[in-house]
Amino acid sequence: MKIRQMTSLVLCSGLFLLTMTARAQETESYLQAKPEDMRWFRDAKFGLFIHWGPVSLKGTEIGWSRGGERRGIKGVGPVPVEEYDNLYKKFNPVKFDAKEWVQIAKDAGMKYLVFTAKHHDGFSMFDTKLSEYKITNSPFQRDVVAELAKACHEGGLKLGFYYSPVDWYHPDYRTENHKRYIEFLHGQIRELCTNYGQVDILWFDGLGGTAEDWDSNNLFKMIRELQPHIIINDRAGLPGDFATPEQTIGTFQTERPWESCITIGTQWAWKPADEIKSVSECIHTLVRCVGGDGNLLLNVGPMPDGRIEPRQAARLQKIGEFLNQCGESIYGTRGGPFPPDSWGAGTHKEKNIYVHVLNWDSDKLILPPIKKRIVRNSILNGGVCFVKQTAEGIEISTREANKKKIDTVIVLELDGPVTDAMK
Ligand code: GLC
Repeated sequence: MKIRQMTSLVLCSGLFLLTMTARAQETESYLQAKPEDMRWFRDAKFGLFIHWGPVSLKGTEIGWSRGGERRGIKGVGPVPVEEYDNLYKKFNPVKFDAKEWVQIAKDAGMKYLVFTAKHHDGFSMFDTKLSEYKITNSPFQRDVVAELAKACHEGGLKLGFYYSPVDWYHPDYRTENHKRYIEFLHGQIRELCTNYGQVDILWFDGLGGTAEDWDSNNLFKMIRELQPHIIINDRAGLPGDFATPEQTIGTFQTERPWESCITIGTQWAWKPADEIKSVSECIHTLVRCVGGDGNLLLNVGPMPDGRIEPRQAARLQKIGEFLNQCGESIYGTRGGPFPPDSWGAGTHKEKNIYVHVLNWDSDKLILPPIKKRIVRNSILNGGVCFVKQTAEGIEISTREANKKKIDTVIVLELDGPVTDAMK
């Protein structure tokens, strides 16, 4: 082979490799958020999920209680379709105050909020140009999403939109004209990513639909173009940026970010006289999520008048009081080195391990050995404890009076980074 031929061969294959690498990077860039854009989410730990719509007038479950045809999924809800689809004509939540919701979330120690822009029932809680079935055509007339977005931006709370690609209202959904539905879906997401300033999370709820069902590859490309720093969950037929275990605490996992979504009552949307989880249960759930290296997205369903139910708001307030005192052991931590167990869970940050004792099963808590020396210990929410470290493990005890009803947060300071103690 002549030198010139060889040179051009080398050049060609070089070019080929470069193109391939560029393609791979392009692929990665829309499928996954950059690690630096995930950081705030991993540090935030705690967010407010809000399921709301005209269905709150009935007090039944959002989307699911709608009667009539449910293309793609079997079953019929208890509210006749004619009634369900006309509820918005009576929906006038005059006590809705976006600033108040944001304040409630912030006082609870939450760092972000995710709101149902459109649920499976197809009703848009924003002023979409693509449908008449929307909040601005209700007696209320106001764009709830716009007001919430503004309040979040002003209040310094990260903003997420829940959006259901599943739609039991749209005439083309899962029919031979499904392509038209996909155009509508992409159009609505374009609106949400264009008209409301910075959006931090897109939270799809595609109920097992595939990437083809929603043309999710193109959907993701568009979203990341419009909102370059956004993060997207795993429910649009693509892995997305984080996993979303539902109504259950995720298992310990440090490789892939995750967020458990859990209702404060028994339903996503508001239910009158619902059974509400205790403050203790909520805090334990949060601690177990964070100890497992995940987040908790705790859901409330506001009432038809626009207020978050006072009983629910009171619970959130109490969680906030705990976080005010013990936030250091939650925010910005990582899960482990002691994964969630019957006694509680461990979190860590820099040189500190935070041992969250949720149940004192016996006098002493025995933990496995670690590879660094404990140089100091304290109880973050008051009192002193006794810590004995040997090659066999760590023994922790404290007087009865120091054991907290909900969570005794013991700080173990090591003589080096906790990550080294875990190797
Ligand atoms: C389930 C429910 C849906 C709810 C979602 C939140 O998928 O069917 O109504 O919005 O959970 O994770």
